[in-house]
Amino acid sequence: LVERCCQQLTAEPLLAGVKLLLTAGPTREALDPVRYISNHSSGKMGFALAAAAAELGAAVTLVTGPVNLPTPVGVRRIDVESALQMHEAVMSRIGECDLFIGCAAVADYRPAQVASQKIKKTGDNDQMALSLVKNPDIIAAVGALSDKPFTVGFAAETVDVEQYALDKLRRKRLDMIAANDVSRAGQGFNADDNALTVFWQGGQAALPLADKLTLARHLVALIARHYRP
Ligand code: PMT
Repeated sequence: LVERCCQQLTAEPLLAGVKLLLTAGPTREALDPVRYISNHSSGKMGFALAAAAAELGAAVTLVTGPVNLPTPVGVRRIDVESALQMHEAVMSRIGECDLFIGCAAVADYRPAQVASQKIKKTGDNDQMALSLVKNPDIIAAVGALSDKPFTVGFAAETVDVEQYALDKLRRKRLDMIAANDVSRAGQGFNADDNALTVFWQGGQAALPLADKLTLARHLVALIARHYRP
């Protein structure tokens, strides 16, 4: 209650009346009943964005992969596991939202077959090959909609960060993209801090290293200014 009161009293409601759909966390792509392919996303960045947007008055729906974080105050949370489930959760709600932010680290590929029983180690082979198939690109599907919401993506990159981010901005038909250099120690995946460079058509802004909630507040304020110039 105290947290909610502080939100209401301190933040200017730049996003009052705006419906935001947001993805966060990793996805898990099952191999068998006990194993999966995933990544190091903790959900911290996405949950911080959800909290920051709620502070500014947005009605926030957070679709999240498996993470170990409490739901931010005032945020509606939908838990999913796989990229296919996240795709379904997003596409079934996208028509109701004004803003979409894709912060989730969605697995690009999933195992072609999910074994119904635990895969056993065999004595006769030291190698094992996995066959993978491409997952749907959720944010690209949002960007392709004729009546798309204002759409903000992330680009987690280890090299040529700006170049790849600008390519994703254009190819996925995004309004903004937050480039995240995940090669640097102490920021990005599973860290408490992060730094971003945000690009849009004709402009860019550097958001320097800060804790993820502070950074999320800066990013959400920037998005609000572009969404409602
Ligand atoms: O969760 P944390 O530990 O706090 O870490 C935060 C973070 C590093 C995960 C976050 O800041 C971040 O960079 N998120 C994007 C991670 C990512 O998968 O980026 P990408 O460059 O692979 O994807 C580009 C964009 O397409 C992203 O908006 C992603 O959500 C989206 N995407 C990707 C693949 C796919 N199948 N569907 C998608 O929607």
